[in-house]
Amino acid sequence: MSDATLFQPLSLGPLTLANRVVMAPLTRSRAAAGDIPHALNATYYAQRASAGLIISEAAQISQQGKGYAFTPGISTPEQVAGWRLVTRAVHAADGRIFCQLWHVGRISHPDLQADGGLPVAPSAVQPEGQAFTESGFKPFVTPRALAEAELPGIVADYRHAAECALQAGFDGVEIHAANGYLLDQFLRDKTNLRTDGYGGSLENRTRLLLEVTAAVTGVWGDNRVGLRISPSSPANDIADSNPQQLFGHVVQALDRFGLAYLHVVEGATGGPRDSIPGFDFQALRQGFRGAYMANNGYDLGMAQEALGAGRADLIAFGRPFIANPDLVQRLRHGAPLAKLDQATLYGGDAHGYTDYPPMAQAAAAQ
Ligand code: PHB
Repeated sequence: MSDATLFQPLSLGPLTLANRVVMAPLTRSRAAAGDIPHALNATYYAQRASAGLIISEAAQISQQGKGYAFTPGISTPEQVAGWRLVTRAVHAADGRIFCQLWHVGRISHPDLQADGGLPVAPSAVQPEGQAFTESGFKPFVTPRALAEAELPGIVADYRHAAECALQAGFDGVEIHAANGYLLDQFLRDKTNLRTDGYGGSLENRTRLLLEVTAAVTGVWGDNRVGLRISPSSPANDIADSNPQQLFGHVVQALDRFGLAYLHVVEGATGGPRDSIPGFDFQALRQGFRGAYMANNGYDLGMAQEALGAGRADLIAFGRPFIANPDLVQRLRHGAPLAKLDQATLYGGDAHGYTDYPPMAQAAAAQ
């Protein structure tokens, strides 16, 4: 048991978070040409700065790591300058923000690659589904398997992106190892069919993740780095023959770094929590020293219960933050939550992005 509540501060590495409500990373596809964040994005994040911590929408570490139209990057000087607008605005509103570092691997399309080339992956296994390109949805293609000699370049891209995030004024970074993207593709035996040092055994499949984590913590220090996994999510056509064992190994191996937190999507991303009935998320915490950030379908009651029972240290809310910029205040007052508009989730302008009103304004308008 614990007497923790959502509205108490939490020490996270060198930071003190004002509360335990985290804004989860949310792709909104509203970057400017060149995948550059701009003033509109700064306004959006500043509106949500009462979260104890904001995790930015996923930002691709390289052109190769991009998988959706209009998502922001974190690898060029122009992108760094754009993110500076965001971090300054959030800090001016007394918020904290981490940058989520993203390489999509096979969840891309030649239209989104610099040279129109094939997306890369651990193995040439085509995903089911469609990519969101600038000219609409297009079926995924069979990716090109990365050569072992290319993997140091991927690690270097993560290190460079981590340095860019530091220059951009973020408070930390989150390594995106969830939702069927590149690092998750290496972990799972459905997508990793390699026979070299990066495939086969649990140690080998975890190797790239640990190399990336070493590179990123080398830039930031251990306690300003978090990491996101989604052990029981089928997102982006991912699966493993024994996810409980795989992620038990992954979390134990990560513990050597002393990371700030482990961010766990419990269940199918944005979907049912019981996607693998009986999956034991608490077992993953055994031997992990950092904070446990729980995500997926939490409401106020579930969040307070999980914190009070000591099952989580932080709760990340995703979709509720889209239509409720002042989510913390609404939760604190037990106020009703506004519903998001699906039509304006991805791409577009301020509509459905920065024009969701805070509670008082919404009430006054009625
Ligand atoms: C999405 O755009 O749907 C998306 C992006 C990143 C994720 C999950 C979903 O990690």
